[in-house]
Amino acid sequence: MPDWDEITIRPLRWDETDLRQLLAIEQAAFNRFDAYDRQDFERWYHYNPDLCLAAEIDGHMAGYVITRILPEQGDLASLATHPDYLRRGVGAALLRATVEGVRAYGKHQITLEVRKTNLSALAFWLNMGCVPFGVQPGFYTDGEAAILMRKWIG
Ligand SMILES: CC(C)(COP(=O)(O)OP(=O)(O)OC[C@H]1O[C@@H](n2cnc3c(N)ncnc32)[C@H](O)[C@@H]1OP(=O)(O)O)[C@@H](O)C(=O)NCCC(=O)NCCS
Repeated sequence: MPDWDEITIRPLRWDETDLRQLLAIEQAAFNRFDAYDRQDFERWYHYNPDLCLAAEIDGHMAGYVITRILPEQGDLASLATHPDYLRRGVGAALLRATVEGVRAYGKHQITLEVRKTNLSALAFWLNMGCVPFGVQPGFYTDGEAAILMRKWIG
């Protein structure tokens, strides 16, 4: 099992090598309603490329996170770990780097949405210090609600 030291966080690159790995993670990690396609990623990537990060283990992309800066907060669009690398601290490492990045913009909170039945993600976000602050009915294309979550970053 890799330990924390073996996870490298680096900027995501908009090139074919990274895109292939990014889309592979997306399709493995999310259901068909929630998985972003190339166009979705392209739109998000252009907001804040510096807050689009990849986690690498042994030269393989193990996870990614995408965030943009809004006037009041960092808006975390997506974070996923490839199923082969779950529970090794990849998600936590990506979030830690995101917190530093958002803090550098002078923002004090990160917000995100999570599917109300995505219990593993809910457990992850709660463990990471996120606090639920609302529900958005019908947020997902299949009609399911999102739990709105916030992480204060001081
Ligand atoms: C949620 C997700 C990103 C977590 O990634 P990860 O790299 O496995 O997370 P970490 O290893 O950093 O986990 C950190 C802590 O979060 C909690 N956690 C993570 N996954 C969990 C699970 N399935 N069940 C319960 N707690 C969990 C644990 O407390 C864990 O610490 P521990 O392993 O020492 O007990 C991953 O499960 C995933 O990609 N899911 C599919 C995509 C998704 O739903 N993304 C979030 C969209 S809002």
